[in-house]
Amino acid sequence: MLRIGPCALFPMPVRLSSHNFTPRLRGQSNNGRSGTQANICRTNRFAHFNKSRSAAFRSFGSSAARTALKASLEETWSNPNGDVLTELLPGSLWAAQRPFVWNGIDVGGKMGVVRLADGGLWVHSPVELDEALKQELESLGPVRCIVSPNFEHVKYAAQWIDAFPEAAAYACPGLAAMKPDISFTNTVGEGEAETDAAWLGEFEVAFFNCERNPFTGKSFFNEVVFFHKPTRTVFVTDVFWNYPAEAVPLQTLAWKQGMDKVYLPFYRNLMLRGRQLEYRSLVDKVLDWNFDHILPCHGTFITTGSSDGGKDPHEILSQHLLQGKPQTGVLT
Ligand SMILES: [Fe+2]
Repeated sequence: MLRIGPCALFPMPVRLSSHNFTPRLRGQSNNGRSGTQANICRTNRFAHFNKSRSAAFRSFGSSAARTALKASLEETWSNPNGDVLTELLPGSLWAAQRPFVWNGIDVGGKMGVVRLADGGLWVHSPVELDEALKQELESLGPVRCIVSPNFEHVKYAAQWIDAFPEAAAYACPGLAAMKPDISFTNTVGEGEAETDAAWLGEFEVAFFNCERNPFTGKSFFNEVVFFHKPTRTVFVTDVFWNYPAEAVPLQTLAWKQGMDKVYLPFYRNLMLRGRQLEYRSLVDKVLDWNFDHILPCHGTFITTGSSDGGKDPHEILSQHLLQGKPQTGVLT
């Protein structure tokens, strides 16, 4: 189904049904694709286990097996070390980085994982769950919360809810009605439900309900932005991106240029039309948070001093959200 939406298609906001990740075995053949297509695939491959790593996985539990699993994925710009799960802050914050392939372009995708105060795991914008990722998570703690933060990042929600039936499944406002086939248990971002959740004591949230599809007038991303206070990390899905300006395939670079030069002005000038004050209030709320890190679903992790000449993460986010100035992240 085609829908309006810039996350999945550029330049005009036509939304595919959901994000599309393309798993591919390491060393998998090109299946008769042309040379150009093959080059695209080489840059975008996402590998599950090869046979030896599958064997290691079956004997999971030994440190040697776990070590073998650590680098079992294809190395791509969006997952440069081929990690199943990348530790970003020791013992508290991780990301599952996967190629997000759209029309042969790896536009990068990240799932965030936080260890909550009670030892449980909070999962933001889940990527496809495989056995390696499941085992990595289970070695860290029980999955307590699965968060679908906007209308777009929902492709794997049902898979995760099935895999972790004890976890609470949170949707951004309006998503549960939009996807009645997915068994969300709660809504987060507005209303009473969120006040009952103990995990929200560790977070601040900002519900970006100010953007509209200029063609239909309907809510667009409906994104909830999160701030995890203990790790001082902001989780952003599609409101902000941080694509590197280099060290990415040409197709990805073209995507970045399109997002920066066309989509961002479109968003600011048309999707927010008539709601700039509401938008500004939400941005001010986010910028008031005392954060040191930004984990975008698209692009690279930002930590104090790591990006764009060592600029403060507040400055990076402010320039993007208030001035429409795209950032150029560094690979971390
Ligand atoms: Fe997205």
